Amino acid sequence: MRIGILTGGGDAPGLNAAIRAVARRAFQLGHQVSGVKNGWAGCLEEGLIDELTPADVRGILPLGGTILGTSRTNPSKEQNGIPRVIRTLRHHGVDGLVPIGGDDTLSVAAKLHEAGFRTVGVPKTIDNDLSATEFCIGFDTAVGVVTEALDRLHTTASAHHRVMVVEAMGRDAGWVALMGGIAGGADMIIIPEFEVPLSDVVAHLYRRRGEGKLFSIIIVAEGAHIPELEREQGGESEKDAFGHVRLAKRGIGDILASAIEHETGFETRVTVLGHLQRGGSPSPVDRIWATRLGVAAVELIVNGQSGVIPIRRNGDVEVVPIAEVVAQTRRVPKELYELTQVFV
Ligand code: F6P
Repeated sequence: MRIGILTGGGDAPGLNAAIRAVARRAFQLGHQVSGVKNGWAGCLEEGLIDELTPADVRGILPLGGTILGTSRTNPSKEQNGIPRVIRTLRHHGVDGLVPIGGDDTLSVAAKLHEAGFRTVGVPKTIDNDLSATEFCIGFDTAVGVVTEALDRLHTTASAHHRVMVVEAMGRDAGWVALMGGIAGGADMIIIPEFEVPLSDVVAHLYRRRGEGKLFSIIIVAEGAHIPELEREQGGESEKDAFGHVRLAKRGIGDILASAIEHETGFETRVTVLGHLQRGGSPSPVDRIWATRLGVAAVELIVNGQSGVIPIRRNGDVEVVPIAEVVAQTRRVPKELYELTQVFV
């Protein structure tokens, strides 16, 4: 059979490891592989589906980004989008598709399956917010970027006795900020799942100063809510093809830093990590699990499965319906958030 590979949505370190795994396992089982360029856009325009050869996937394991390119194109927003996707794939002789993506990409993959086209997904998003799976490609590397940033910011915050506000990605979930904050020793972690009044932030900073801690590192997730600051946030108008607000436009890091300086008089600076969390070479964890899930996806699709996705659960590979993975946003549980209160 001819297997198509597609990478959709925000890019993430580890995508190329997954592409390599899907292709190499397919070749080993005697199948052909096509690469779909630029996410779902590659299934809606001509000339964006090409043969992938063993040479094409050589040396890409440590490479960030995706050799196929990606987009936030949503076929469901296009007229006859899903039938057109299927027609384009079949026109290129593709018998089954492995879309690698997050909730948006995989929601379209579920519709493809429902329309009768053989589809097996692979979970990817630095946000780590897909239900059912403990692992999403890109999350571990993003946490590493945040950790290194906090380590670096500790030395300059300490030198100047400053408050450092760090804004992390994660969309509507706080996984990147939480895990990066724990690993990087943040003094306060503010995430969308648990609202924090500005008064609590101010009181916390005064308490630390009273204890002789002359600098503080606060990490705030881009989607976090601080009631007193909501009215100042911008960005609610600009949305992508899946209806997501561009949360970076809210500017919560800047707004929080200004509010802290105004309320406390403590010198405060802000670092917005932005797409640094999406760039660079994948961590070993991302390489290993992108490989394991990519190989699993091929074995499922060549064995006739469709509408399913290999995930990591209890440290091993399991298989669940794609619909289960996109059913709801996986949010940080209270007991994990409470762990952070020990160290602040
Ligand atoms: O979904 C991954 C993600 O990095 C989010 O954390 C972030 O809000 C969004 O993508 C940014 O989207 P874009 O790369 O389109 O600016």
